[in-house]
Amino acid sequence: HTLENGEFQWSAPSNIALVKYWGKKDNQIPANPSVSFTLNNCKTITKLAFTKKDLSTKRITSSDSFSFDLLFEGQPKEDFKPKIQKFLERIEVYLPFLKEYHFTIDTQNTFPHSSGIASSASGMAALAMNFMSLEKALNPAMTDAYFYQKASLLARLGSGSACRSVKGQVVVWGNQANIEGSTDLYGVEFPNEIHANFKNYQDTILLVDKGEKQVSSTVGHDLMHNHPYAERRFAQAHENLDALKAIFKSGDLDGFIKVVESEALTLHAMMMTSMPYFILMKPNTLQIINAIWKFRNETQIPVCFTLDAGANVHVLYPKNVIEKVLQFIKDELVGYCQNGQYICDEIGNGAILL
Ligand code: PMV
Repeated sequence: HTLENGEFQWSAPSNIALVKYWGKKDNQIPANPSVSFTLNNCKTITKLAFTKKDLSTKRITSSDSFSFDLLFEGQPKEDFKPKIQKFLERIEVYLPFLKEYHFTIDTQNTFPHSSGIASSASGMAALAMNFMSLEKALNPAMTDAYFYQKASLLARLGSGSACRSVKGQVVVWGNQANIEGSTDLYGVEFPNEIHANFKNYQDTILLVDKGEKQVSSTVGHDLMHNHPYAERRFAQAHENLDALKAIFKSGDLDGFIKVVESEALTLHAMMMTSMPYFILMKPNTLQIINAIWKFRNETQIPVCFTLDAGANVHVLYPKNVIEKVLQFIKDELVGYCQNGQYICDEIGNGAILL
């Protein structure tokens, strides 16, 4: 390896799961397949600067350590370092040159810090893209397809859902018999037909509670081991992905709403029925859900909600009803948001080299 120093910068978006990943096996292998919309505005921008260590006097051995500095929004951030350290340990087998370099990782998010929006998907994806750029600089012959597959595989080792933030508007992660190319190892662009009804789909994220999560997703995934409903739940995820495949093709928005809302509530039902049990929804989460149901009943506008592992509500709807839905959000939902905050986002395309 002859590359002495340089830098890359990538942005990677967050994503919102429609069929949820909840439960995993060893090595970040998901217990069930999931599918998500890639977001456009909520993203992490990460610069990776690298300098080759002076190795004239010694060879790198496995007892050497990784060498990196971490800046978050321009300031040194010690408390993120253990996560990065663990990530590097997991990916070293795929990128054996890592210990030959000193890295400066300089990262920032486009969404407010501690907004309760998980930054692990966008953050780990942005970092994985940068390390792949370094590998490509060392091995220029690799194909684009290989580049993105391996980037997603690396991102998965940082945070499972991060593998769905690499490339494509609708991304499947996890082996599903009738979805060609789907695999537990990395996310792939949903390969089948998607009806125009899902073009430019909107996601307005209502920030209900910006506090730190009481239960991390790592603990949550673990609680699916020995969970009384785990097996049925994993089978249901396959069924719902199958249903969504048909819905994407036909453009059936009512069918979409049923699958997506049921998936969100099932995710939280798994939390409520694990041992120990826990609740991440807040009273205002339920107020918002009820208001969405009432609005949908009264107007027949195809708006629905989903949740990730927290209290915030993602409001999903087609672009052609954006004005009415945003008016409804301003009139009836903003009052349930912490400091009235919400973020307007929509389907996007994945990571970008800057
Ligand atoms: O990527 P993790 O380990 O933080 O898990 C995320 C799990 C959910 O966001 C709750 C669901 C999903 O599929 O994104």
